[in-house]
Amino acid sequence: MKLNIAVLPGDGIGPEIVGQALRVTEAVCEKFGHELTYKYGLVGASAIDQVGNPYPDETHELCMGSDAVLFGAIGDPKFDNNPAAKVRPEQGLLAMRKKLGLYANLRPVSTFPSLIHKSPLRADLVEGADFMCVRELTGGLYFGRPQGRSEDGNTAYDTCVYTREEVERIVRLSYKFAEQRRKKLTIVDKANVLCTSRLWRQVSQEIEKEFPNVETEYMFVDNAAMQIIQWPKRFDVLVTENLFGDILTDEASVITGSLGMLPSASIGIHTSVFEPIHGSYPQATGKNIANPLATILSAAMMFEYAFELKEEGSLIRKAVDASMAEGIVTEDIASGSKAYSTSDVGDWIVDFIKK
Ligand code: IPM
Ligand code: MN
Repeated sequence: MKLNIAVLPGDGIGPEIVGQALRVTEAVCEKFGHELTYKYGLVGASAIDQVGNPYPDETHELCMGSDAVLFGAIGDPKFDNNPAAKVRPEQGLLAMRKKLGLYANLRPVSTFPSLIHKSPLRADLVEGADFMCVRELTGGLYFGRPQGRSEDGNTAYDTCVYTREEVERIVRLSYKFAEQRRKKLTIVDKANVLCTSRLWRQVSQEIEKEFPNVETEYMFVDNAAMQIIQWPKRFDVLVTENLFGDILTDEASVITGSLGMLPSASIGIHTSVFEPIHGSYPQATGKNIANPLATILSAAMMFEYAFELKEEGSLIRKAVDASMAEGIVTEDIASGSKAYSTSDVGDWIVDFIKK
């Protein structure tokens, strides 16, 4: 099969972790006889520095013309501490999501036996937890207009907007995932307070009828935040709006033991994007210490979701499991034992795949 991908390393540790995921992708393609071609694109702070735009048209054309996008991370502290900055690296990521129509962000949360002791939660609570968060990605407060400041600068506003169509497509997709899993869907909202949440709930209750084989539950987001930590095993598929999903998935990542482990797939209308859920970790830039596993697992999702190559994806997962079992891991998840570098972990996984 021919795989034509766009590679957007972005900022901070992005180039280092994407570098390893790309090597793993190459090794898998070689092993299974696929023909891989790829091109690099600019995004984020590095794109602002070079061309003044965090998601240049050229990068968008590249993504549109590719079968999948492998994405690193974006963000740079020089913008965070400067509220007056006119363009921010994050706008690049948001523009990409919007322009590619990536309305569904799939963030699977599962535990790794060798990492259970790293979780701040009790082992018996997290062992075997396995759920999928579906985060709506192109609506809500992130994109609603108006957004801005009053003339005198002393009042600021964001607007949360959802249309029936936006809710329908994400909820229906979530039911489809639930059908393929343990047939339970938790719909998370704040319908006791927010109008948009009441629309979510109304539309969801209509769609619920189309999926009688799936058990549906509705949960307020504050309660969900608590239950994810208290009883993570009760969840199968969880769907929610953009900002709630952003927050809940960072929270959910601690169940795994490290934010450095969670991959994601963003799917929708045009080319799908595969990226770790963690950020650009600026303090570690260039040090070859960042955990590449979330990005490598994102590459596994790329094989599975963009190309429907299940065996290829599961070989990557197997290699990741084996590297952890052998203790070939970066400092964030090394337990007392030796910590390996980003590229050491990549080397080991590439070797495993070749064998
Ligand atoms: C994420 C990130 C982004 C988001 C930021 C970088 C804009 O936190 O992918 O979760 O908030 O969506
Ligand atoms: Mn986030």
